Amino acid sequence: MSLSFLAPAADTAAAHGPVNPWVALAYLVAGVFFILALRGLSSPATSRAGNRNGMIGMAIAVITTLVTHDIANIVEIGIAILIGGIIGVTIARKIAMTAMPELVAGFHSLVGLAAVLVGWAAYLNPGAFGLLVGEGIGAVSKVEMGLGIAIGAITFSGSVIAFLKLSGKMSGSPIMLPARHVINLGVLAAIIVLTALFAMATGPAQTLPFIIALTVLAFVIGFLLIIPIGGADMPVVVSMLNSYSGWAAAAMGFTLGNAAMIITGALVGSSGAILSYIMCRAMNRSFISVIAGGFGADSGGAGDGEAREQRPYKQGSAADAAFMLEQAESVIIIPGYGMAVAQAQHALREMADMLEERGVEVKYAIHPVAGRMPGHMNVLLAEASVEYDKVFELEDINSEFAQADVAFIIGANDVVNPAAKTDKSSPIYGMPVFDVDKAKQVFFIKRSMGGVGYAGVDNDVFYMDQTMMLLSDAKKMVEEIVKALD
Ligand code: TAP
Repeated sequence: MSLSFLAPAADTAAAHGPVNPWVALAYLVAGVFFILALRGLSSPATSRAGNRNGMIGMAIAVITTLVTHDIANIVEIGIAILIGGIIGVTIARKIAMTAMPELVAGFHSLVGLAAVLVGWAAYLNPGAFGLLVGEGIGAVSKVEMGLGIAIGAITFSGSVIAFLKLSGKMSGSPIMLPARHVINLGVLAAIIVLTALFAMATGPAQTLPFIIALTVLAFVIGFLLIIPIGGADMPVVVSMLNSYSGWAAAAMGFTLGNAAMIITGALVGSSGAILSYIMCRAMNRSFISVIAGGFGADSGGAGDGEAREQRPYKQGSAADAAFMLEQAESVIIIPGYGMAVAQAQHALREMADMLEERGVEVKYAIHPVAGRMPGHMNVLLAEASVEYDKVFELEDINSEFAQADVAFIIGANDVVNPAAKTDKSSPIYGMPVFDVDKAKQVFFIKRSMGGVGYAGVDNDVFYMDQTMMLLSDAKKMVEEIVKALD
């Protein structure tokens, strides 16, 4: 069987020339480190090693590129790396864990913009990028360039909107344009046609209008695709934009003939797509319905302050909670966004240790979308040195609530809301939730009865017979329980 279809297109091969085998080997080694990084990041126990592997892979890729290319001015590049490094370290040190999703969205916008700039630089000076075939740029290189610019521009404007929505600088509510699906499909079709026309055209006078038009339309479609998506779906959007930024980098890797960029881009693109899929499954929503937008239209994100009917509930104190926790045989702790806000994880660990010393079995139940980013709760519990074998995922622990003495909810809300199972009109309907209502007792820590979760809806668990509301800042309440247990 002939494998000639695997050979690079004639114009691409001619443009980039033969690849130095040592460079190819170095990029391959960098690629292996990136795969090890992804493997390591799949569990909190190995995530530090995963991060280290990613850094080693990136160092190999950057150094190889620097030493094997005619760099115009290595000092300028060094200064740029230094400035970027200082900005990166400063942001990483300052950023609160709760602001991580918007930071990620902000960084993706830069990846998208970089892809657009590299694409334009290659178009304006193809000789410098080894893209000249005869007089002009080859058709295949132009398709790669067009795709890289288009995906990069969509990533850029989409990520900027996601950043603005997540950071509260723009309303999280979906903005619905009439006939938006028709407009979006029309713009996407126009981008594909323009890319084809760009590839077929020859000479700057013919190609320039096409590349300008496709760049502008791609910026516009990125904006149009993200504005109808509501706050509650933003995590999926950020992960999807992460995926786009990977594909933009991969497309640019083809333009530049750089294997490391193709490998890295494909890894980022596919891992982002898989993460989006996993998150959609956790919320029980189809990927298409998220991308089509509109979820959360009625809720407008956290705390929209709608008047709600007053219903009776039981309120308790830290001393009440401590007394009942000591009597329990099994306690399941469900942490959520409020634990992250209050930074209550260390006090919580202390409380769990004290209960275990008294023979109580303590387990932690983590919902896939608890908090504000994937793995949010796992990271916080790991920071407080909670053993991994006590931390369970939704599907592994949900059946245990029926036998549990206490479901201890700390700063979680949407992920324990039974409306997700019963109320078809609820914005969280269909999301799998913890069956806390089956536990003998439920302790619910939150600051006030008025505060709602991310989806902005009331929760029947507050008003159940077996529920005791512990109204306070999470850290303060847990510290008081610890004192009462002492
Ligand atoms: P939420 O439903 O957002 O509820 C958070 C709860 O914490 C609220 O009831 C709030 O009530 C309480 N709270 C806030 N600050 C507190 C403090 N200092 N002390 C004590 N309680 C505090 O959280 P969840 O159950 O973790 O659900 C996550 C939601 O966010 C889901 O709807 C999910 O789809 C969405 N989301 C998830 C992600 C990812 S990937 N994890 C990303 C973005 C959005 P008070 O105001 O009364 O205190």
